[in-house]
Amino acid sequence: MPTFKTVRGMRDLLLEESQKLNGLVEKARKIGELYGYMEVVTPIVEPYELLSVKSGDEIRSRMFVFEDLGHRKVALRPEFTSSIARLVSTDLKNEPKPLRILSVGSVYRYDEPQRGRYREFWQSNFELMGSNRPESDAEMILLTDKFLKELGLRDYVFKIGHVGILREVLTSEKVKEKTQDAVLLRMDKKEYAEALELIESKNCREVIQGLIGLSIDSVPQILNEIKEQVKIYEKALRATENMEEVWRLVTESGCKEVIVDAGFARGLEYYTGIIFEVYIPELDIALGGGGRYDKLIEVFGGKPTPAVGVAHGLDRIGLALQMQNITIKSKRKIRVVIIPVMEELKGEALKISQSLRGEGIPTEFEVMGRKVGRALEDADRRKADYAIIVGERELKEKSVVFRDLAKREQTVIKIRDLPKKISGSEKIES
Ligand code: HAM
Repeated sequence: MPTFKTVRGMRDLLLEESQKLNGLVEKARKIGELYGYMEVVTPIVEPYELLSVKSGDEIRSRMFVFEDLGHRKVALRPEFTSSIARLVSTDLKNEPKPLRILSVGSVYRYDEPQRGRYREFWQSNFELMGSNRPESDAEMILLTDKFLKELGLRDYVFKIGHVGILREVLTSEKVKEKTQDAVLLRMDKKEYAEALELIESKNCREVIQGLIGLSIDSVPQILNEIKEQVKIYEKALRATENMEEVWRLVTESGCKEVIVDAGFARGLEYYTGIIFEVYIPELDIALGGGGRYDKLIEVFGGKPTPAVGVAHGLDRIGLALQMQNITIKSKRKIRVVIIPVMEELKGEALKISQSLRGEGIPTEFEVMGRKVGRALEDADRRKADYAIIVGERELKEKSVVFRDLAKREQTVIKIRDLPKKISGSEKIES
């Protein structure tokens, strides 16, 4: 047999890496709780049609698609948003609004693997259904800011844009929806020349080019400039004012690093309003992104429901933390190993380990049948905290030997006192 490797772009997450991921998941759930989000778990495999209909060419072309044994065309989810929109247009359609939904899990895209880009990666995803007000757009940015701040991350910046500004200009100039999708996709990839080439009307091309070319650091100034450039397009002007309001709300709420980019586009086709990404300039990859999508639930046959959401790339956030030398602190339970001195005592030792587990104390039983010395060496190597050595003499006194592995000290202690001795010494560890 050959030796097997993981599929290209997919990783095993071992020990510290899986702990780190779990720490991030825990933190994301805490943020969900803080902001009133309820968690749902949806399938990893969904109908291809559901995932592809409004996701855009970029994601569509990178999905893991296959036919199941019942000849259904299905795919691995490349994101959570369509699954949540499916839920809100079906099972959750009568739930009172606003509806705040959190999902955490793995998603799949056939991206070219490189640092921070994988084919299986993790997202924490927040969707807020039922409000078209700017405060709900602001909530997405604020909860993302809170998440990153709580992790201790520094130097990240939010970039906001507005699909409505670009689409309203293009629509007013009679650019067809399909062409608009293609233009925005090129802009997302920063292929501006190619994007402009797709626009036939010279006038329209000039306006879009003007928006792309705007590079002003001061947000109020750039907003005024955008308004000036789109002033003849009523709806694009409204969209700019909407973006201004969201910017004001988030900055007034303490999120300071927010820039506005009039030429900013995102590959996903379902966006209708504000879009944003958060990134660390030095890293040059997005740690998260989201936006408003007011039409998707209708497309899925639900009642018209405005919606906005964000997804955080947990693998990339982990990478950014590593680059900034930040470790996630999480509460670690004390670990205990239990070693019978001889074969005949394993029944008694097992009984003690079960009662410790009954008290919620993680206890690993010596299943290799090793001598005490060897078993202790192994416990040291695996960084256990305490060893309980079950010997005949102590057992007669309803006691065991209790060894502190770090201090290399041991005492004889009554079995009934073990839980008290062990608990209360919980450790905070990175
Ligand atoms: P997205 O921008 O496609 O948005 O993905 C969100 C985040 O997932 C990115 O910012 C990035 O951190 C991470 N990510 C994307 N591709 C990869 C990859 N190949 N490897 C590692 N990390 C990656 C969405 O998924 C939308 N569903 C967000 C949303 C929710 N919009 C509205 N609601």
